Amino acid sequence: MGIVGAGFSMSLDGFIAGPNDDFQRLFGWMSLGNTDVTLSTGDRDIELKVSEESAKSFEDLMQATGAIVSGRRMFDVAGAWGGKHPLNVPIVVLTHQPPQEWVKDESPFTFVTDGIESAVAKAKQIAGDKNVGVGGADITRQCLKAGLLDEIGIDLVPVLLGSGVRLFEYLGIEPVELECTRVAAAPGVTHLSYRVLK
Ligand SMILES: NC(=O)c1ccc[n+]([C@@H]2O[C@H](COP(=O)([O-])OP(=O)(O)OC[C@H]3O[C@@H](n4cnc5c(N)ncnc54)[C@H](OP(=O)(O)O)[C@@H]3O)[C@@H](O)[C@H]2O)c1
Repeated sequence: MGIVGAGFSMSLDGFIAGPNDDFQRLFGWMSLGNTDVTLSTGDRDIELKVSEESAKSFEDLMQATGAIVSGRRMFDVAGAWGGKHPLNVPIVVLTHQPPQEWVKDESPFTFVTDGIESAVAKAKQIAGDKNVGVGGADITRQCLKAGLLDEIGIDLVPVLLGSGVRLFEYLGIEPVELECTRVAAAPGVTHLSYRVLK
């Protein structure tokens, strides 16, 4: 059985996007290394240059991930990844109103409207023995509150953005205890992984 994990590039003051959903500064570390990684969406190739260790992490992520749950905002901000997510896995989108242009038999997207538990259950069913990734701040918080999240990966970027989309805003719950499982410094980023203690 796979795990449910969320991973984000985040500023030191806790933002995963700046104003107007701009995340370019947070992804700057992906061009500071010396190992080439190519990710492909439905409409473009993304050429990255990362450290050897970060390249290995991308490879591991691609091998281990069987499906992703995305919030509707992330889906919209990413332009539906041109029809193919860079990890090339099925995407379950949690939304109140499925976009009709993507509701069709051969769609790479499954739209779920009845809550985070249902969306994660659907993604687990698709992923089989592999892991489920969670994308979007709002739905990551919902996963945490519902006790659905097993791991949090943070690529910590040494910048203070000051405003934008915060990852851990208004959790409104008891402290969530975490166990740090990875600390790895690379050019322009520190990779951190935490296991959520339940
Ligand atoms: N730095 C990074 O690594 C990174 C990675 C990924 C994303 N991001 C950023 O994260 C931001 C997106 O996160 P976000 O927190 O704004 O939004 P989100 O979690 O992607 O999506 C939230 C939306 O999902 C839908 N939704 C949430 N709960 C629902 C429920 N229970 N039932 C039905 N629909 C539900 C609602 O949309 P509707 O009501 O419209 O359906 C809601 O507005 C973007 O700025 C993106 O750039 C950053």
